[in-house]
Amino acid sequence: MSSPLRNDRFLRALRREPVDCTPVWLMRQAGRYLPEYRATRARAGSFLGMAKNPEIACEVTLQPLERFDLDAAILFSDILTVPDAMGLGLYFVEGEGPKFHNPVRSTADIARLAVPDMESELGYVTDAVRLIRRELDGKVPLIGFSGSPWTLACYMVEGGGSKDFARIKAMALNEPAALHRLLEVTTDAVIAYLAAQRAAGAQALQVFDTWGGVLSPVMYREFSLRYLQRIAAELERGEGDERTPLILFGKGTGQYVDELAATGTDGVGVDWTTGLDTAARVAAGRVALQGNLDPTTLYGAPEAIRREVGRVLDAYRDGNNGSREGHVFNLGHGMSPDMNPENVAVLVQAVHELSRR
Ligand code: CP3
Repeated sequence: MSSPLRNDRFLRALRREPVDCTPVWLMRQAGRYLPEYRATRARAGSFLGMAKNPEIACEVTLQPLERFDLDAAILFSDILTVPDAMGLGLYFVEGEGPKFHNPVRSTADIARLAVPDMESELGYVTDAVRLIRRELDGKVPLIGFSGSPWTLACYMVEGGGSKDFARIKAMALNEPAALHRLLEVTTDAVIAYLAAQRAAGAQALQVFDTWGGVLSPVMYREFSLRYLQRIAAELERGEGDERTPLILFGKGTGQYVDELAATGTDGVGVDWTTGLDTAARVAAGRVALQGNLDPTTLYGAPEAIRREVGRVLDAYRDGNNGSREGHVFNLGHGMSPDMNPENVAVLVQAVHELSRR
């Protein structure tokens, strides 16, 4: 069986239990800003080559933990593995980001979609989870993740990244029933994918609703929130200390903290455009909150980083009745390749020092 956790601050904070200091991890903590990542990537040949090889995915997952005193590891993979397994054919063009060979453009395309078989199509992900748990040996918990149904549908319909989301928004306007069918099957796939990661050993699960904030409130509730509610309600995650907490992270979705907290999720991730004081008042102790330092703070000098870390910690406390419990420190979104690793060390140390109980 697996060894007991030596650092459970992250899981305790998600249960809103007391901790010795606020736990911290960073979205995109493994990636191109680390020279050792670039070296492994050069050896593996490509990003997808890394993600689809469990040994390499494990190696890259552990890289940031060797440098920094982080309180959680996040599986090295990508949200687009799910549509890839649904037959869309994921590939990356250097400098242009992700693309699909077979984007979803018609009701016939949608009718052909099915929940992929986890074992045969996504076994490389669950193999990586098992290997990482073994190598972590209880050092910190391992986070598994998925894209939100809406965010995955954006890539599936647009065929890659987009500036205006014209195709999927036209589908929402002109063929809402077709878009709902796409979102239903994608939600089924997301729930099966998260359950498979949990069964393989993931100790917390995060859903990335990266593009939730591009919708009007009416459309957000219809096309994104409704499916996040389904995930929070249907994904089995156990009870008490054995519970695998779920975190719903959204970019540009700070105005929906009340509705997200009401879904039954364990944690809500907030970007930096909403103050954690406001978010904590709205959440009113129903969920833990994760966030929300502006990632560009990492371009600042060490003293500026410490000051801004202190502001985020204190904003959470001020909105949470004077208590720091129930806060997981993170950036408001992912790190960028040109960030300086030394500043990450400053950030992590500042979180622990300035939040020491
Ligand atoms: O946080 C982590 O360290 C875990 C690994 C992780 C990656 N992608 C690795 C990755 C996670 C959680 C993701 C999620 C993801 N992927 C999201 C949601 C999170 C967010 O940023 O809001 C999205 C939208 C994607 C889709 C995607 N994959 C994009 C837009 C890109 C960037 C393409 C580029 O050229 O910059 C990727 C590739 C990707 N995923 C990289 C990494 C480290 C860069 C890979 C490389 O070129 O080496």
